[in-house]
Amino acid sequence: MIDRMKIALTKGRLEEKAIELFEKSGISCSPLKTETRKLVHSLPEDPIDVLLVKAQDVITYVEHGVCDMGIVGKDTILEYGSSFFEVLDLKFGKCKLVLAAKDGEDLYGKYRDLRIATKYPGVARNHFEKKGINVEIIKIESSVEIAPLVGLADAIVDIVETGTTLRENGLVIVEEIANVSARLIVNIASMKIKRPHILDFVSRLSSAL
Ligand code: PRP
Repeated sequence: MIDRMKIALTKGRLEEKAIELFEKSGISCSPLKTETRKLVHSLPEDPIDVLLVKAQDVITYVEHGVCDMGIVGKDTILEYGSSFFEVLDLKFGKCKLVLAAKDGEDLYGKYRDLRIATKYPGVARNHFEKKGINVEIIKIESSVEIAPLVGLADAIVDIVETGTTLRENGLVIVEEIANVSARLIVNIASMKIKRPHILDFVSRLSSAL
């Protein structure tokens, strides 16, 4: 009997593109395409269960072995990830992690530590540590672009996709930190125990890319 595989899929932005890729790979996702609040779906033609969860939780489920695989953005991996295999760049959900500030702001000319507002404190700390610059990190949960406008921070570290949010709030990119896209991650034990099924799944997805 084939073991069922569990995949944690990031709800929202990445969900639709992931389903598109699954279907292109011949993995029927009909239960995922109906309007419902159901969060666990068994796929009809493959021994796969899909859990719809928030990005950070994809990492938690995969690291704890509750899910064999996950689909999550590289931004979340850089911030929260530690022990799993990152096996495939899925090439959708493309954006950048950047440092941005008000247009004309002299960021490095200040006589005090920079204040950085961000949803990604780990990524921001790491970026400035590499440069040997002390910063104060202020954790913000959303609409980070407001922080420099109201004087909460000198700059932000955030993701930029189209650039519209930065532009419409008078902010510009100061430095690019990392390229982001959706990745397929695999639990370390699952990679041993369910290796043939996982490799088959990976090769189906990669040939559809
Ligand atoms: C993200 C990000 C930026 C925006 C960038 O926020 O934090 O605010 O999208 O996209 P753009 O470059 O296409 O304008 P999200 O929409 O996830 O909302 P949030 O601020 O509530 O996290």
